[in-house]
Amino acid sequence: MFEQVRREAALLAELDLTLAWTLETHVHADHVTGGDLLRQRLGSRVAISEASGAVGADRLLRHGDRVRFGARHLEARATPGHTAGCLTYVLDDRSMAFTGDCLLIRGSGRTDFQEGDPRRLYRSVHAQIFMLPETCLLYPGYDYRGLTASSVAEERRYNARLGGSIAEDDYVGYMRNLKLPHPKLLAVAAPANQQCGKPATLPTDEPHWAPLRFTFAGIWEIGPQWLEENAVVGGSN
Ligand SMILES: [Fe+2]
Repeated sequence: MFEQVRREAALLAELDLTLAWTLETHVHADHVTGGDLLRQRLGSRVAISEASGAVGADRLLRHGDRVRFGARHLEARATPGHTAGCLTYVLDDRSMAFTGDCLLIRGSGRTDFQEGDPRRLYRSVHAQIFMLPETCLLYPGYDYRGLTASSVAEERRYNARLGGSIAEDDYVGYMRNLKLPHPKLLAVAAPANQQCGKPATLPTDEPHWAPLRFTFAGIWEIGPQWLEENAVVGGSN
């Protein structure tokens, strides 16, 4: 997320990692991606599906494309239904998949705007995600209860909308009658994300009075050497 770029950059620095790619699962409707800010700050690249219609990406992906990092790769699988351009990213050994807002933990993304289509979503999940090994861990784009991961076995069995013996027509009927409120940030987030999160103006709240370093713990730190060299020595009395 755009608002968390400082935190993500701090974690990458602390772990001594280099960010190669930001892989967008789709054009989000409820928050602005940090993809472009991370690119400006860290020199990483941004990839999103060609079908999303987004501009400003370093790479546009199609079903079956591979994104390499070191000796490993992620495979992009087209999983439309929440939006027409949704991708799920599957790790090369099929031990993990990143499902965006297509398959959520015990749920699914909504299908009532951004070219959503419940029939396509049902087929995407069953053909591209539920066919992965049962032990494959699933990481959705978000979870309102704070959960972070599930597995193919769990979702096949317990997903209340898509798992078990729920048929395609049941799912379609359910999704068409949800009547959810429109996301509050849609008018802001969707246009910004069509450009990979390119902000109109850059945030200017970075303090510049000293060489400060922001930590993943959320604290600004200052080096003891700088402090020693610059500290004002107290008066004589
Ligand atoms: Fe979404």
